[in-house]
Amino acid sequence: METNLQTGVEQAGKSHGSGEVLIRLEGVTKVFYTDEVETHALAGVHLDIKKGEYVSISGPSGCGKSTLLSIIGLLDSPTDGKYWLDGAPVESLNLSERSRIRNREVGFIFQSFNLIGDLNVYENVELPLTYRGMPSAERKQRVMESLERVGMAHRVRHYPSQLSGGQQQRVAVARALAGDPAILLADEPTGNLDSKNGEAVMELLRELHREGATICMVTHDPRYARHADRTVHLFDGRIVDEQDHRAHDEEENPSVS
Ligand SMILES: Nc1ncnc2c1ncn2[C@@H]1O[C@H](COP(=O)(O)OP(=O)(O)OP(=O)(O)O)[C@@H](O)[C@H]1O
Ligand SMILES: [Mg+2]
Repeated sequence: METNLQTGVEQAGKSHGSGEVLIRLEGVTKVFYTDEVETHALAGVHLDIKKGEYVSISGPSGCGKSTLLSIIGLLDSPTDGKYWLDGAPVESLNLSERSRIRNREVGFIFQSFNLIGDLNVYENVELPLTYRGMPSAERKQRVMESLERVGMAHRVRHYPSQLSGGQQQRVAVARALAGDPAILLADEPTGNLDSKNGEAVMELLRELHREGATICMVTHDPRYARHADRTVHLFDGRIVDEQDHRAHDEEENPSVS
């Protein structure tokens, strides 16, 4: 099934990595049962995301975007269908394997930043590394490196309430990065930001992608969606359309390597 991925990928010369599939969803459904209501949040999603690819997900409110990200990030399980992560069927993982992968391989960035108000910037970024049992010297190095990446190293002792929205989101990006995850999942990361701060966070994601990060981002904003390699359009829990942005970029900007 994957043999076609071994060959013919290099000639594309793109930044989306080796062509290996990192995430494969086949016929994934998700049904929520609340009282008498049955909601089919996902109704048979097929999706492959390659290592190093940057995919954006768009679609109207309630179409299943966040549900899809939760499943990809192992925060939730499909009702039906198959999910392979890096070649391994996720359904065969036990609880502790799931949480280990969630903690080590996945970085989450949310619309509402989700920083812990009682912890300062340094401690917020450090927390997931502490959960992993990483020694403190290594934690310190990782925390400072990732805060420098996002331009927030000068604010380590600040608390979230003392930061602007854009700064809080940059700290949230640093927290997601610090663990060096295999995939970054971002759910409307610019939803609570003005356009200037939104641009800055998007530029950060692009930079991470250029350096090889695999990114899956939900956004309502077509300007930001175009930053991705491709956009997947969801409607009523199904993928109804896909747009490849790479071909256009090439035409507009042929000298970009
Ligand atoms: N925990 C839950 N229990 C019951 N229903 C849920 C739950 N989570 C989501 N849903 C329902 O599943 C559908 C998809 O929700 P989801 O949050 O994935 O939408 P979305 O595309 O992210 O929307 P938005 O753009 O508004 O964030 C919605 O109808 C929602 O009400
Ligand atoms: Mg959502």
